Amino acid sequence: MGKRVINQVCRITRTVQINDAYFELWFSSPEMSELLEPGQFFEIMTPGSERLRIPISAYDKHADEIGMMIKIVGDGTRQLSTLKPGDALDVVGPLGNSFTRPTDKRVLLVSGGIGYPPMFMLKKSLDESNRIWWVHGGRCKQDAFDTDCVFTDDGSCGSKGFATIGVEKALSEGGFDWLFACGPEPLLKRCAELAKAYRVQCELSLEAYMACGIGVCYGCAVAIKENDEIVYKTVCKDGPVFNGENVVWK
Ligand code: FES
Repeated sequence: MGKRVINQVCRITRTVQINDAYFELWFSSPEMSELLEPGQFFEIMTPGSERLRIPISAYDKHADEIGMMIKIVGDGTRQLSTLKPGDALDVVGPLGNSFTRPTDKRVLLVSGGIGYPPMFMLKKSLDESNRIWWVHGGRCKQDAFDTDCVFTDDGSCGSKGFATIGVEKALSEGGFDWLFACGPEPLLKRCAELAKAYRVQCELSLEAYMACGIGVCYGCAVAIKENDEIVYKTVCKDGPVFNGENVVWK
């Protein structure tokens, strides 16, 4: 049986400005909140548009409320940043699959830029028996969030350099069972390589251009190894989370 997906016009409950580029948008939906798992996302109708929806990852939930952390990168996200509590928001979701949630393991979380929100939700939902270390990377201070280890390209926050430095250091020190990552493709590709080299199970949340968001248009297709064959899967419906060992990189 397929997963239940809901289309609802929800009420915005609160907004939080994090910095000039990022904000949180919270809406109320008891039904979606009950279904939501870490790694899933929503297709959000942008205000003033009749049809344009944009995919936004789930960030957090509290009882009936669901939070999204959004980076302003274009017109759609800029319009979402103008919404106020009480405004209506047309939401489809929760969409996609979710991360495995191991117990009693050593877990390495890796995020790059706006890959932070899915990792935040995953961390919150992991059992306390796990021991977690989280490496985050961003371009500058604006993209740096509260984690165990932060890298920025320009050195304006944390260590200067790419998050892959922190990933390699953590894995080389040993003891990790799982690696979960979300962020730009070069980061994910390197995480997959390192996880393989250090024999760590790896799940990656892939980013892709999405049109329909429901597995119909194949605009988000990615090549995946399955039983020694290469097959095409949709990031929006079969993913966004894939086993890192199976992803065929471009
Ligand atoms: Fe259409 Fe994924 S966006 S199939």
